[in-house]
Amino acid sequence: MIILSIETSCDETAAAIVRIKGGKVEVLADIVSSQIKMHSEYGGVVPQLAARAHLRNMVPVLEKAFKKAKISKDELDYIAVTKGPGLIPALMIGVNSAKALAFILNKPIVEVNHLEGHIYANWLSKEKLDLYVLKKMKFPVLCLIVSGGHTQLVLMKKNMRFDIVGETVDDAVGEAFDKVAKILGLGYPGGPMVEKLAKSGDDGKIFLPRPMLRSGNLNFSFSGLKTAVLYETRKAENINEKYRADICASFQSAVIEVLTAKTIAAAKKYKAKNIFLGGGVSANKALCKGLKNGIKKNLPGVEFSFPEFKFTTDNALMIAIAGYYHIKDKDIGDWRDLSPDMNFRLR
Ligand code: KG4
Ligand code: ZN
Repeated sequence: MIILSIETSCDETAAAIVRIKGGKVEVLADIVSSQIKMHSEYGGVVPQLAARAHLRNMVPVLEKAFKKAKISKDELDYIAVTKGPGLIPALMIGVNSAKALAFILNKPIVEVNHLEGHIYANWLSKEKLDLYVLKKMKFPVLCLIVSGGHTQLVLMKKNMRFDIVGETVDDAVGEAFDKVAKILGLGYPGGPMVEKLAKSGDDGKIFLPRPMLRSGNLNFSFSGLKTAVLYETRKAENINEKYRADICASFQSAVIEVLTAKTIAAAKKYKAKNIFLGGGVSANKALCKGLKNGIKKNLPGVEFSFPEFKFTTDNALMIAIAGYYHIKDKDIGDWRDLSPDMNFRLR
């Protein structure tokens, strides 16, 4: 089975082509064209600019993917595309490109939720070079999704069935990282910069709250934590490199403590056998380490995994893998009815 996947939910124009046979995934092409440089001038993603860039980049990215994959367009079996959640002007470019291809090539479209993609990035384990095997998972699987737009605890009792058991009541974790970076003048996207500075900082110097740590439910809140960083920074007399490193370390520790505690509580409650981490913030090594240690200590026997680094932030390979499971479930509608949905929820 050969799948072409397209992802344009935010600021990466991405296309991948995979061949899946007997549980093995051969990555024929995996192209990501990032717009980060352009948006960083504005301190965040500007939806209309993202859409224009997707429009400019879509055909070159597809051409590159087919050239790399060395297959003709007729050899495709399915087209998988991100329907949402994301920025509507951005999603429209990917969805419409997929529809144009489906029309011309007479191929079916599989619609994929962007967050399914982040979750299914965990299904890949590397065998050699670009050959992956689809992992066999023991359900229930608990997923912690941490991206620029979402922070959710999602329970999967089987493939492609999702129950959101906890989520943020305000900002997403990635958004909080980006806002803290903005307060400290570190540029966009903030996550990698905050992580880098935190490495040389002391997380015990400045105390920051642990929002909703003892709320008794599985929800999160990160808006107050970001405001606490703002107030601390206003109080500070000298904002030098050392101060920035310390406050980044404190912020990151607070985030990791809350995420780890709630994930463990959810895994206990729902008797999870596997715990997955997914979304852009899963690129954060300290978070992966914190979760790994916490799970090892509190939930022996529960397996924890996170995606390979290059599949942590937005890419199209994860969309192809999630698409594959929709195909297996025969969950394919008429592409003529397909339209983007900025608030597309996992279900
Ligand atoms: O999943 P993603 O690429 O896009 C969305 O679906 O939102 O996530 C992007 C987010 C941004 O907020 C970015 O700051 C954050 O992921 N991020 C990180 C790191 N790398 C990316 N946050 C913390 N530490 C990182 N190393
Ligand atoms: Zn994402």
